[in-house]
Amino acid sequence: MKIEKFSDYEALSNHVAEALIATLQENPSAVICMPTGNSPRRTFELFVSKVKERSIDLSNFFFIGLDEWVGVPSELRGSCAYEFRSLLFEPLGIEDHQFHLFDGTSLDLEGECEMMDAVIQEHGGIDFMVVGIGMNGHIGFNEPGVEFDRYAHIVPLDETTITVGQQYFDQPMKLEYGITLGFNHLLNAQTVYLIANGQKKAEVVKRAAEGPVDSSFPASIMQRHMNGVIAVDAEAASGLSN
Ligand code: F6R
Repeated sequence: MKIEKFSDYEALSNHVAEALIATLQENPSAVICMPTGNSPRRTFELFVSKVKERSIDLSNFFFIGLDEWVGVPSELRGSCAYEFRSLLFEPLGIEDHQFHLFDGTSLDLEGECEMMDAVIQEHGGIDFMVVGIGMNGHIGFNEPGVEFDRYAHIVPLDETTITVGQQYFDQPMKLEYGITLGFNHLLNAQTVYLIANGQKKAEVVKRAAEGPVDSSFPASIMQRHMNGVIAVDAEAASGLSN
């Protein structure tokens, strides 16, 4: 794992957008996995504008959504599906057969997990994965205490995630469970970028990068990835010791 520091959020997002494009130029059928939330928002915007400006052909790439809130319909603003649609699929005209997302409203959530694992396997695994980090150290919905050797799974949400998660919705939401890729997917991905920006992420970035690798702080898993990058702006990097 390595750490890459950028002057600000814009420079960080620009770097990740360029890294995504470089991956797709080298391998047009690459499998890309992204999170939602505040951290990747500018990366999505820059990626979309660069793809348009440079007329990059995305007709062969495949997209995997990292996670979803259980019980939240995909049409609702705040669901991960809504974010992926509005930030990526609609602006770039990505067709339905080019992505696979969890359906958080499925009555067969175990089946959703099995299907996600099968789709990733059929596509030969994830080439480039971007993740964020929660205020409790979660990645996706891999909450503190998660088993590291999981594929897609369903997780009872931590209090912090339930509270912080309200910000994404227009009305108070009953959030109890998440459905998410597991850390086997993360460790098997060719390249993983954990992105974080802002002063409020300084402490969690420090723990992820320098703390013990332990499931009580899930993002510490990044230290085990040979091709893992923790990419941060100056504020999020401010707690790091070197
Ligand atoms: C969302 C996800 C979450 C977020 C994390 C950070 O799809 O996977 O793990 O990445 O909660 O969220 P932000 O970026 O909003 O601080």
